[in-house]
Amino acid sequence: MSQIRESELQVIRSFHTSQLIRNKYENILENLDSGIILFDSDGVLAFVNVQMAKLLGVPRKSLTGCTLTQLLRHPQLSRFKKKKIVRIYRETVFHKRRFHEIVDEFGRSWLITMTYGDQMEGDFLISVKDVSDFKRIEQSAYQNDKLAMLGKISASIAHEIRNPLTSIRGFIQLLRPHLVSLGKDEYARIILTEIDRANDIIYEFLNSSKPSAPETKIVSVSSLLKEVVLLTESEALMKGCQIDLHTDDTLPAYISVDVKQIKQVILNIIKNALDAIFEQHDEDITGMIHISAKDNGKHISICIADNGKGMDQNTLNHLFNPFFTTKESGTGLGLSVSYSIIRNHGGSIAVDSQVGAGTEFVITFPKLDLPNDE
Ligand SMILES: Nc1ncnc2c1ncn2[C@@H]1O[C@H](COP(=O)(O)OP(=O)(O)O)[C@@H](O)[C@H]1O
Ligand SMILES: [Mg+2]
Repeated sequence: MSQIRESELQVIRSFHTSQLIRNKYENILENLDSGIILFDSDGVLAFVNVQMAKLLGVPRKSLTGCTLTQLLRHPQLSRFKKKKIVRIYRETVFHKRRFHEIVDEFGRSWLITMTYGDQMEGDFLISVKDVSDFKRIEQSAYQNDKLAMLGKISASIAHEIRNPLTSIRGFIQLLRPHLVSLGKDEYARIILTEIDRANDIIYEFLNSSKPSAPETKIVSVSSLLKEVVLLTESEALMKGCQIDLHTDDTLPAYISVDVKQIKQVILNIIKNALDAIFEQHDEDITGMIHISAKDNGKHISICIADNGKGMDQNTLNHLFNPFFTTKESGTGLGLSVSYSIIRNHGGSIAVDSQVGAGTEFVITFPKLDLPNDE
């Protein structure tokens, strides 16, 4: 008798324990930071967790018991999400794809995983995970690899080009008296200046793409910007574009940088802005480049904004890649070199752009604390 009771009690106990475990797992699933949704073998939504309801932007209660068609007709589901769901559905059914990646309206990346088949006994599990941080890290690792490779290639190319240039320069100088006697001294002069220009370009490029630590000097941000703007004013004038430099002189901000390299970065960005304004074929818009510097306590940021043609998502994705250019005679090196210079300075570079409206680059440097700011 007591033995029967004992076994009954055991059944009750084990039922109780399994119930507790079940509740625990349900709790975990419900509050997981990934979104989870389960359709049963009849295609009816059997489970949806808090995060998934949040991602869909639909109250959780109104989802359970829905079919996919009913979900797609849900009045609170946005058109953007409906379109994405239909696309993922098609790719899963017709192409048997189990992993999907989407980018949402706010630029975040999501990995969507489909689990079905034997182990699911006819059920269909969909999980959605935010992989934006992972994507960012992956992208910057890829970027660093390419920049390291670019550094090596450019160093060897530069060596190979420099040597023949030096011998050409020497021979032209030897030929110069003969050219003078023919009245063609002008030719020699042009060849020599062009060779010097090519040498300068190689030197500048090598200097900036070298991974070595920058030769730093303490400079005031506003004087640095003034000097760079002076260098670009004539080109801007030629392109009918205004450059508006706005620095707060009452707030002296200093940074410790390799002046030559940082000037090159700012020049690259301004030149790109001038090109973008030139390519924006709207006669009614006056080309404007606003340059400003801000001090937010710990950092100094330099902002360069233009009202040029702007960039589409594809250009934005590849912007800092070596050799990426949308211009016929572009090199695609300006921004990749700028990126590595800023990284070598412990700074960062961010960009925001809209097609047809313009682009804004923000370079941020760690601020230097000078004991006696003047
Ligand atoms: N201010 C800008 N407005 C629009 N597009 C830009 C801007 N700056 C850069 N870009 C885009 O980024 C690409 C890469 O720039 P960059 O590395 O300087 O190379 P390049 O100027 O030789 O093309 C450009 O070809 C252009 O498409
Ligand atoms: Mg450029």
